[in-house]
Amino acid sequence: MHEEAKPFVKWAGGKRQLLDELTKGLPDFHAYHEPFLGGGAFFFRLESENRIKKAYLCDSNRELINAYSFIRTQVFELMAELASPEYANNPVAYYKIRASNPTSKVERAARFIYLNKTAFNGLYRVNSKGGFNVPFGKYENPRILDSENLLRVHRALQKDDLYCGDFTIVLKNARRGDLVYFDPPYHPISKTSFTGYTKNSFYEKDQERLMRTYKALDSRGCYVILSNSYSEFISDLYAEFEPEVVYASRAINCKGDKRGKVRELIVRNWEPQVAQRKLVEEIVASY
Ligand SMILES: C[S@@+](CC[C@H](N)C(=O)[O-])C[C@H]1O[C@@H](n2cnc3c(N)ncnc32)[C@H](O)[C@@H]1O
Repeated sequence: MHEEAKPFVKWAGGKRQLLDELTKGLPDFHAYHEPFLGGGAFFFRLESENRIKKAYLCDSNRELINAYSFIRTQVFELMAELASPEYANNPVAYYKIRASNPTSKVERAARFIYLNKTAFNGLYRVNSKGGFNVPFGKYENPRILDSENLLRVHRALQKDDLYCGDFTIVLKNARRGDLVYFDPPYHPISKTSFTGYTKNSFYEKDQERLMRTYKALDSRGCYVILSNSYSEFISDLYAEFEPEVVYASRAINCKGDKRGKVRELIVRNWEPQVAQRKLVEEIVASY
C-alpha cells in the first residue's frame, strides 16, 4: 500500500462514494481497463493497493486526457504553470481564462484544472459547440495547485496507456483474466439529469452498444464490472448478470434539492464470494 492519489478534478459521476462496493470481492486480475475514466477514483484506489500491473485508461474528453498525459510526463512543468499569478481565484482572471483557447499542451492542461477548481459546482459542462460555459464559482480557497496530489497522480500513471476516444477501444486491448470497469454517463433518471461531459451525448443506443461490448468481454473471459443509475432500462439490459442495487450520495446535480442518496446499479459477471474462494485456493496451492 502507498499513499492514495485522489482525482485531480472534481468530476460529475465521480465514484468515491462507491469505492467500497466496487472493491468488494475483486478477483486477482492481469491488466486493468477503465474506458470511461473521468476522475479515476476507482483506478487510484486499486493503484494505491498495488493491484495494478498495467492499466489502459480512456475517456472521450480530449481536455481531460490531455491533462492526464501531461501529468504523467511533465508534471513539474504543469505545476510551474499553475503557480503563475494569472491562475488567480477571482472573476476577472476566471473569465479571461475561460475565454482563452490556448494551443500549448501545458496551458490547456492548466486551464482545464483551473476551471475545474474555480467554476461553479466544479462542473465541466460544454455547450453544443464544445465551449466551456460554467460561471465563476466564488469558492473561498480552492486548491488550484495541489502539488502533493499531482505528484501522486504522476507516480500512479507510470504503468499506463492513455487513450482519448470511444470506450470500444477496450475490445482491442482486453485479454482473458483482465479486469474491465465501465462507468458510463448515467442513463438519465430525469430530464434534468447531468449528461453534458462532452459535446457528444450518450444515448440509449450507446448504452446498448456498451451492453454488447460488456457481453463480448464476458465471453472472452474478462472480469467485467459496470456501474450505472438505477433504471428499468439498464436493469433489463443486464438482467442475465443480476445487477445489484446500491446506494450512493450524489454531489453534482443541477438542482441543490436533488442532492442526497440515490439508487445505483452494479453489474458484475462474477460472484464476489466465488472469486475470493478461488484466490484463497490458489494461495494455499502455491505453498
Ligand atoms: C460517469 S463519468 C466517469 C466517472 C469516473 N468513474 C469517476 O470516478 O470520476 C463518464 C465519463 O465517460 C466519458 N465518456 C462519454 N462518452 C464516452 C464514450 N463514448 N467513450 C468513452 N468515454 C466517454 C465522459 O467524458 C465522462 O468522463
